[in-house]
This record gives sequence, structure tokens and C-alpha cells, in this order.
Amino acid sequence: MKHPRAGLCPSAPPGGDASGPAKPVPRHPSMDAAATLPGWTAGLWPAPMDTLPVPLEAEARAIAFMPMTEADLDAVHAVETSAYGHPWSPRHFRDSLQAGYPAVMLIGEAHVGESPWPPRPDGRWLLGYLVAMPGVDEVHLLNLTVNPPHQRQGWARFMLDALALWSRGQGARSLWLEVRQSNAPARRLYERYGFREVGVRRGYYPLSALQREDAVVMQLGLDGTQGTE
Ligand SMILES: CC(C)(COP(=O)(O)OP(=O)(O)OC[C@H]1O[C@@H](n2cnc3c(N)ncnc32)[C@H](O)[C@@H]1OP(=O)(O)O)[C@@H](O)C(=O)NCCC(=O)NCCS
Repeated sequence: MKHPRAGLCPSAPPGGDASGPAKPVPRHPSMDAAATLPGWTAGLWPAPMDTLPVPLEAEARAIAFMPMTEADLDAVHAVETSAYGHPWSPRHFRDSLQAGYPAVMLIGEAHVGESPWPPRPDGRWLLGYLVAMPGVDEVHLLNLTVNPPHQRQGWARFMLDALALWSRGQGARSLWLEVRQSNAPARRLYERYGFREVGVRRGYYPLSALQREDAVVMQLGLDGTQGTE
């Protein structure tokens, strides 16, 4: 699978590359804590919402996490193409789903006139989504998108909280991602969340027919504080 915006691995997993023999996932102390949370089943989304610092509007919007399925790909594609100059194709999402990567949508109610799209059959709107790829003791964030009419309402930070919680529950010790060098909003989001820049991948992303753009590689340790401000 070749994604236009995210490689299979921003860095080789500790102790070897992904082609090596599978290693047992070390048990992280947070796995025990997560297992006691109401509604939590290790490895299963949605994360328990009542354990996350939710944005102010969350309750009014009746938000929920839903696993992304093939049936959602038209809606996801509509958001993806409105949010990016270089969007993933439905094929990239389909490949991620078929690979069994965690792919979740954040849905919620919209304010009158806020969203140009019709609601989902359940009457709620797609606020955003993420796709991640678990490694041996790390998780790679492959796609994090907030539907443009719903940006700057705290949903990206909220999804990062949920991803960090889920990842800790999986025994992950760090989160990794790549971001276009020119993507100032996303770099600001990740930096403020606590990610640090650990490298640059030259010419990683397509920019135009003739040009490519560097990727900034960012990492967040999950052993200590969560990183949210
Ligand atoms: C980047 C993106 C995910 C942010 O989503 P969001 O829900 O608007 O972000 P939040 O409301 O949670 O913002 C959290 C913090 O991130 C930073 N941030 C988010 N958007 C920003 C922007 N446009 N400009 C500057 N800082 C921004 C701010 O520090 C913000 O905190 P503040 O609102 O208290 O100042 C969203 O703009 C998006 O989907 N963009 C297109 C897709 C994309 O680039 N995804 C990332 C690919 S790596």
C-alpha cells in the first residue's frame, strides 16, 4: 500500500524492521489502568469518552466515536478532498481498513447552517476521523482530519487524546507521524500537543508534477505525560 501522505513507517520500529519476526507486545502499565475503565475493551474503539477532557461543546453535540467502514468511504472522501490539496483516495482508506488499522470517525450534531453536507442516517455529521497503524510498541498516525466547517473547535486535540489513550492501552510507548513542512496548522497542533520534531524526510510528499515536499517527522512519548496543554 502506498499512501500519498504517509509512508508505512516514519521510522523503523525499535528492535528491527516490520519485515522481521513478530515480537510479543510488551505489557505497558497503562494497559491495566485502561482495562478498568468503564466501557473499555482493550483494542476496541470507541475510547471511553468520560475519561477524556472533552471540548466544551462535546455534550451539546452528542459526539461519539464510530469505527470507519467501507460504507462510510463516500462521506470520508468528501471531507478528505475538501480538507487537503493532496487527499488520500478512497483506495487508501480501503487498504487501511483491509489491513485492520484502527480507523475511527468522530461524529456529532452540527449547528444550523454550519455544515454544507447532509447529515448521516443517524442525524449526526462527520466531524473528523483518524487512521493509525500499530507497531511493536508504537503507533503511527497516518491520517488526522477535521471537517473544515468544524475546525478550531478542539476536535483534533480530542481525537489525539483518544488516540493516545487507545495507544497506551495497546502498550504503545510512543506516537509517530509525518506532516508536510508547509502544513503550519497541523505542525502547530502537534507541537502544542507535545509532539517534538525528530527528523525530516526530504522530498517525501508529492507537491506538483515536478516538485516534492519534505516531511517533518514528529514523535510523542506516551510513557510520561500525555502532552495535552
Ligand atoms: C490540522 C487540523 C487537524 C486541526 O484540527 P482542529 O480540530 O481545527 O484543531 P483543534 O481545534 O483541536 O486545535 C488545537 C490546536 O491546534 C492549533 N491549530 C489548529 N488549527 C490551527 C490553525 N489553522 N492555525 C494555527 N494553529 C492551529 C492551535 O494551537 C489549536 O489550539 P487553539 O485553538 O487553542 O489555538 C485541521 O486543520 C485539519 O483537518 N486540517 C486539514 C488536514 C490536515 O492537515 N491534517 C493533518 C495532517 S498531518
